[in-house]
Parts: sequence; C-alpha cells; structure tokens
Amino acid sequence: MSVEFDEGVAPVPERRSFLGLISGLIVAGISAVLGVTIGRFSIGPAFTASSGQDWTELGPLDEFAEGKLVKKNVIVSQDAGWGKFQSQRSVWVVRKGDDVKVFSGVCPHLGCSVNTRADKFICACHGSEWNDNGDTLAGPTPRGLDTLEFRVEDNKLKVKYQDFKQAITEKQVLS
Ligand code: FES
Repeated sequence: MSVEFDEGVAPVPERRSFLGLISGLIVAGISAVLGVTIGRFSIGPAFTASSGQDWTELGPLDEFAEGKLVKKNVIVSQDAGWGKFQSQRSVWVVRKGDDVKVFSGVCPHLGCSVNTRADKFICACHGSEWNDNGDTLAGPTPRGLDTLEFRVEDNKLKVKYQDFKQAITEKQVLS
C-alpha cells in the first residue's frame, strides 16, 4: 500500500508563517493569563495585608509569666484580591507587672520571623536584635519591633493584629 501526497494542497510558506504567528500569539496569551492567575494565587498572599479588624484572644493575662517573652499564634484574615483566606501569624507578649507589650512577630527589616535568644528578640536572617522593650540593639533593622494594639477584657488579653511596611524607619500600617 502506498500513500500519495497531493503537493497541490500544501500550504504556501506565507500562509504557514501566518498560522505560526497566530498560534504563537494564542499560546503567549494563554501563558500570560495562566502566569498572572497562578502568580496571584501563589505569591499574592505574601504581599497582602491582614484585614486587621478582629480582636484575637491570646489567653488570661495572669498566665503570661512576669518578664518572659511569650510567643502566641493568631489567625488573621486576608483579602488577596481573588478571594479571602486565613493564615497564621505570630505575636510576642511581654508582661512586667501592669505594663504589657504585644509585638508583631514580623521583622521590620525584610519580614523574616522574629525569635528569641535568652532575654532578647532576634532575627536570624540578617542579625537584627531588640531588647524586651522592642528597642533596637543590633543589625540592619530600620526601627524597633512593631507594637500591636491590645486590650484586656475579663482578664483576657486580646490583640488587634496588623501588618506594617518593611524597610522604612517609620511604623506604617500596610493597607
Ligand atoms: S529580615 Fe530580619 S534582619 Fe533582615
């Protein structure tokens, strides 16, 4: 059995180029739409501020040991444009008698997680350090730790979580 090709119906080079161009444009368009959609879905939340509207209970005030740096996790709501979702953030509580401070667990330099070593706060990413008042001791951080608004109701400590702009000297809420 043999197959014969009719050379008379083969597309002329110009027509092939035109079809190739159209195909390329369609593929590029689909890739751009997919790229934007996937990009917004995957990395959008990292650049999205928390709504910051809700008060989150952290626990009974007298359960925060005097002078200790205590980490608590809070669930915050975010709107990434394509939808709302929830994520977990950390805050740090320091209680000295009636004096209470609640710090964001996000480093004001470039956003790594704040941790502790002995009685001070540290950021392992670039070596910033703060004392238990949130004052800067070392490193490239442009400001002290960001304090969060809190209140005490029926001996329960509650915090209003917010995100702040990084790498600037002033504390500014990320909106
Ligand atoms: S991100 Fe914390 S010191 Fe750079």
